Amino acid sequence: MAKGIAVSKKRVAILISGRGSNMEALIAAAAQESYPAQIALVLSNRPGAPGLRRAAAAGIATEIVDPTLYGNDREGFERALQTKLEAYRIDLVCLAGFMRLLSPSFVGQWQDRMLNIHPALLPSFKGLDTHARALAAGVKIHGATVHMVVPEVDCGPILAQAAVPVREGDAADTLAARVLEAEHRIYPAALKFLAEGRVRVVDGRCRIDGRADADGLLFVPNI
Ligand code: GRF
Repeated sequence: MAKGIAVSKKRVAILISGRGSNMEALIAAAAQESYPAQIALVLSNRPGAPGLRRAAAAGIATEIVDPTLYGNDREGFERALQTKLEAYRIDLVCLAGFMRLLSPSFVGQWQDRMLNIHPALLPSFKGLDTHARALAAGVKIHGATVHMVVPEVDCGPILAQAAVPVREGDAADTLAARVLEAEHRIYPAALKFLAEGRVRVVDGRCRIDGRADADGLLFVPNI
């Protein structure tokens, strides 16, 4: 990049509910000057989410939108969410362990601009408890997926995937830890491609401009 030319970075909000290790991986990637996105906001639906402290320690603005204040008024909760995202002039949203279902109308406002990371090789093992279910099914390869968010949970166009071996003697927690390491590699890579404008959704599938395989969207370990 030529010196003196300001390149505008995409402004990203990360939505969390818990510890925020994927959030930290995204923050670390975005700290690099050449990364095409900046983390402008970390927002949690849970006031006590440990990730909030970690984000603040990294100097990132944090916000809480607590759904318990809205009772059954899901629209009101999502309006508050949207107001925050607009206040921070957010371009792209990354869900990272965000444990709230979002309505079709909210998702529609962020179509092709909102990513999620799921701890399984989609379309296998949608939903919760993916590691225990992968072990119960006896699969030998498990993994993680970054996908665009669509109204149906864990169903959006796939942008990045990481394969992880299932080892003899694995328990859900040892497998989860191995998958998590892979998550931390593919999520920053996926966001980079999206922020660079190199991802198009065509017929429900992500089309990537350029050599996607060479740039971290696929991660397959030596087994
Ligand atoms: C990750 O396993 C992610 O795939 C899932 O929720 C977990 C969040 O972990 N959606 P962390 O908060 O990023 O550490």
